[in-house]
Amino acid sequence: MKTNLFSLVGKNAVVTGGNRGLGKEIAIGLASAGANVAVISRTECPEIVKEIEVYGVKSVSIPFDISNIAEHQQLFEQVTSRLGEIDILVNNAGVQKRHPAVEFPQEDWEFVMNVNANAVFSLCKIFGKPMLARSSGKIINMASLLSFQGGLTVPAYAASKGAVMQFTKSLANEWASKGVNVNCIAPGYMATDMNEALMNDVVRSRQIMERIPANRWGNGKDMQGAAIFLASEASNYIHGFTIAVDGGWLGR
Ligand SMILES: NC(=O)c1ccc[n+]([C@@H]2O[C@H](COP(=O)([O-])OP(=O)(O)OC[C@H]3O[C@@H](n4cnc5c(N)ncnc54)[C@H](O)[C@@H]3O)[C@@H](O)[C@H]2O)c1
Repeated sequence: MKTNLFSLVGKNAVVTGGNRGLGKEIAIGLASAGANVAVISRTECPEIVKEIEVYGVKSVSIPFDISNIAEHQQLFEQVTSRLGEIDILVNNAGVQKRHPAVEFPQEDWEFVMNVNANAVFSLCKIFGKPMLARSSGKIINMASLLSFQGGLTVPAYAASKGAVMQFTKSLANEWASKGVNVNCIAPGYMATDMNEALMNDVVRSRQIMERIPANRWGNGKDMQGAAIFLASEASNYIHGFTIAVDGGWLGR
């Protein structure tokens, strides 16, 4: 077997929302495989840059709110001027709002759709264009179990993650023959800030645990293998697919 199939040495990666939760561990995972990493987050995060640079790679922190879609081109220019051409884009940043559907505020629907779906599509286009010109690139979008299921009290989130999984296939259909891989990772129930409300709900938390074949909530480190795989040449013939990292949840 080729020993360097999963190597990312010399590659430049961007991880949105890479300052905490799953994104932070994905950023560290890509760095551990050799990639330089730009972390995009709402606030500057020098401490994550330090953690990433432990792997002997370059890292930069770029504060940016991805809901500012009109400024995505400027973001792209900032990222490439500080890190160089981007080989790997991980659209990880995401938000959640919980309300019973009948009371779901329209502004919350639009907030979630804008960050989780509209901004992701725009970033795919802006970072994807030069990848297409070079016939090389890897885009990883963060889907969810709620790309497959409707969930409870999270209709906007489910709609946004359904959209991400679907347009990932659309992009792959157009870009696979041009050397650009676009795929998704669908995390299961992961112990991060996003799920604080669920984890604090003793009954729902127990019910969720009982349904996970692996018998535990996931964590950020569980994401690293799939992220490195989809960012590396090991996945060159994988297009438009969603890999579930869910402890077996979808099989139940
Ligand atoms: N935790 C889970 O169980 C789970 C399950 C399925 C999918 N996901 C998805 O995985 C991704 C990461 O989730 P997490 O659990 O680490 O969540 P988290 O809330 O811990 O982290 C989300 C990250 O996105 C960033 N972010 C949010 N809005 C942003 C904006 N407008 N601009 C820039 N950055 C922004 C946050 O700052 C943070 O770094 C999300 O897309 C989420 O939907 C999480």
